[in-house]
Amino acid sequence: MSGGIQAVRGFNDILPGQATRWQAIEAIAAEVLDTAGYGEIRLPILEQTTLFARSIGTGTDIVEKEMYSFEDRGGDSLSMRPEGTAGCVRAGISHGLFNGSQIRLRYGGPMFRHERPQKGRYRQFHQIGAEAFGIQGADIEAEMILLGARLWRRLGLKHIGLRINSLGRPQEREIYRSALIEYLHEHMDRLDADARRRLETNPLRILDSKDPKIRKLLTEAPRIGDYFGDQTRLQFAELCTRLDLLGIGYTLDPFLVRGLDYYTGLVFEWTTDLLGAQDAVCSGGRYDGLVARLGGRDTPAVGWALGMERLVLLVEAEGKTPPPTPPDAYFIALGKEAEYKALVLSERLRDRYPRLRLMVNMGGGSLKSQLRRADRAGARYALILGESELNAGTVILKPLGEKGEQTSADFEAVADTLIRKLRHGYATANRFNPG
Ligand code: HAM
Repeated sequence: MSGGIQAVRGFNDILPGQATRWQAIEAIAAEVLDTAGYGEIRLPILEQTTLFARSIGTGTDIVEKEMYSFEDRGGDSLSMRPEGTAGCVRAGISHGLFNGSQIRLRYGGPMFRHERPQKGRYRQFHQIGAEAFGIQGADIEAEMILLGARLWRRLGLKHIGLRINSLGRPQEREIYRSALIEYLHEHMDRLDADARRRLETNPLRILDSKDPKIRKLLTEAPRIGDYFGDQTRLQFAELCTRLDLLGIGYTLDPFLVRGLDYYTGLVFEWTTDLLGAQDAVCSGGRYDGLVARLGGRDTPAVGWALGMERLVLLVEAEGKTPPPTPPDAYFIALGKEAEYKALVLSERLRDRYPRLRLMVNMGGGSLKSQLRRADRAGARYALILGESELNAGTVILKPLGEKGEQTSADFEAVADTLIRKLRHGYATANRFNPG
């Protein structure tokens, strides 16, 4: 609308119809993680800018060009979180959560990156993340992956596949990095401007290039796996054994690198072929050095985060929708006295059945116009209180979306009938039905 104030580019409104889909997915994700021992942690949106510079890395796109950073009124440089891992580690250190013991955490909420918006890529987006601290081995890496697999299964998703790689231990990666730089230097003429810049700042990211010329060049490049020592090789093999046992398919992708510097060892991505270019729905890996780098004691760690917007798009693309949640009943009252009575009765009904979805007509209107509103809201039943019902001490129960005749009885009896009719619906209400 001309002159109206628009939302900030890349920041989306999630309207009620859409929000029910989000709620259904969030509830399932919370259940999958809670039941596996991942306790929720709620973290601030603003952090000191140095937290992200030190964890994600100053040479990364995120820190170099995508953060919403500003000086606050006290002169501190703050940034809106571009991801959740850094804040989670900061909080864990300051509250002593990592002192030698194991801990599993989950979190969710909005993240902010000043990227070029397109389908599946926004400047405010939402993640659900899981992190496990204090556990070294392939067992926890397999758990991390199976939690994702379990979640996709619960949502009925088919078009999602796993890619895994290992970045090795820091010493191994350092040697590989030198070999890669040497190889790419020999082929400078085939690198574009972006790759040449990355060769100086973050050469491993060149492995991620989408440019067909560079992809071709990379087929002959040194492979990180050739630089692994026994321990890295063994841990990766143990992870693969576990995934095989669970029947979780995966592709080994030696070119999978991540846009954040804190990873060591395992990295993985769940991608889909249904969303075009923004195909990573969930990604993560091991980051054993981060807790110590941020001032905590040496603590192994592994985790992932999924992008809610992309997951919702995928759920829609696969035609998996949660059932609608229309009102169970719409209370119609005709005239002031009836409105007073309906107000009191509707509260009594809600006290007795707190999960009942009951909408009460507001703003008066004729029987016809109130019934129209009830229809528009998608209500299954109308409760009708007119002057004659008021005098007789009764209420009418009228099926709207449902089959059946309208009945009239005293309020208690009508309430019982309504609840009995809805009961079957209660058993399935608020459940995500992937079928
Ligand atoms: P990330 O790959 O940067 O990793 O983001 C995780 C997920 O967030 C992506 O797979 C994607 O689904 C979603 N995402 C990222 N950027 C956008 C965007 N601009 N718009 C929409 N969705 C987006 C991390 O953030 C790590 N903290 C993950 C992690 C946790 N690693 C270890 N623990």
